Amino acid sequence: MAAAVLLTFQLPGASAGQLGRGDQAQPVDQSLRALGNRHDLRIGTAVDMAALASDTTYRERIAKEFSTVTPENVMKWETIEPSPGSFDFSAADQLVNFARQNGQQVRGHTLLWHNQLPTWLTDGVANGSITADRLRTILRDHIFAEAGHFRGKIWQWDVVNEAINDDGTMRDTIWLQKLGPGYIADAFRWAHQADPHALLFYNDYNIEFTGAKHDTAVALVKSLKAQGVPIHGVGLQGHLGLQYGLPDAPTLAANLKHFTDTGLAVAWTEVDVRMPLPNDVYKSQAQAQGYSIVAQACLLNPRCLSLTVWGYTDKYSWIPGWFTDPPQGAANLLDENYQAKPAYQAMRTVLALSTGPHKRS
Ligand code: XIL
Repeated sequence: MAAAVLLTFQLPGASAGQLGRGDQAQPVDQSLRALGNRHDLRIGTAVDMAALASDTTYRERIAKEFSTVTPENVMKWETIEPSPGSFDFSAADQLVNFARQNGQQVRGHTLLWHNQLPTWLTDGVANGSITADRLRTILRDHIFAEAGHFRGKIWQWDVVNEAINDDGTMRDTIWLQKLGPGYIADAFRWAHQADPHALLFYNDYNIEFTGAKHDTAVALVKSLKAQGVPIHGVGLQGHLGLQYGLPDAPTLAANLKHFTDTGLAVAWTEVDVRMPLPNDVYKSQAQAQGYSIVAQACLLNPRCLSLTVWGYTDKYSWIPGWFTDPPQGAANLLDENYQAKPAYQAMRTVLALSTGPHKRS
């Protein structure tokens, strides 16, 4: 008679020894943050401050599941400097305090972008009352004020956000128009002076796939490095959509390597996997695959420091409000009722089964 073979699965943190009768197995923390820590990988989420204040479940799950947080909106220019030279850090301070209480690191997002700018700034540039020289001073002062206020409290700063078009040309923003392409190097230098210990990132979307935008991003950060500009990493936003198809994990890992080969770190900064609604079992499985390849690509690269999702519950997602043709959504790990979707289980499985731990830097 063949002997029965008992396959046992070693849960992370569980004792490798035999459990005798009456022994208590150690409770194993299967949260994303605990599983990520085994790989020295921080797992993060964007945080909606209104939800954090009003929704206990939302708050508790962030504390439990994540080791890094990003303010979804409250470190953007329109919130931080709502009128010229007057700064409001109150909402962002709340998040920094929440993170400290929960042993989480903070990704600062973002010092320089073309969206969510205050109207005093955009109107001033448009009507000529803010000259190019003045705009340069305003930008410098803003970066010094914001990065200086949070000095020592930010792990990674998205210094410049979304400066490249999909066709690989530089985005035609007020910054490029008035200050010329050197504004990017200036922003990094100022941020570094204001907070010398923060890791400084260039952050963009669709640069995780090869093509003109990816090539320009690689060339941009290479040239910044060559000029001695203080840049430390590239943020890959990771806003995926099922309708566009998904690459496989090795392809994605190879694309990340194009950035780390320049000597920089990388991070997934805004991952979500949207779909044309309604959701169904097939789409949920495909979505799980989307989160899974993102996690695998990161684990395969020791210079991938963190994986942040852009919200973790469909209850507060930005997707339905922004992607309406066709209506899209259901992009997050948990549904509107905080129930885990296959995507959440897939993330845990990838983090639990990958070999490690790896030291990341
Ligand atoms: C989005 C927020 O999620 C929304 O709440 C806000 O209305 C618009 O901005 N890329 C980025 C993020 O870098 O800052 C954006 O966040 C999503 C796309």
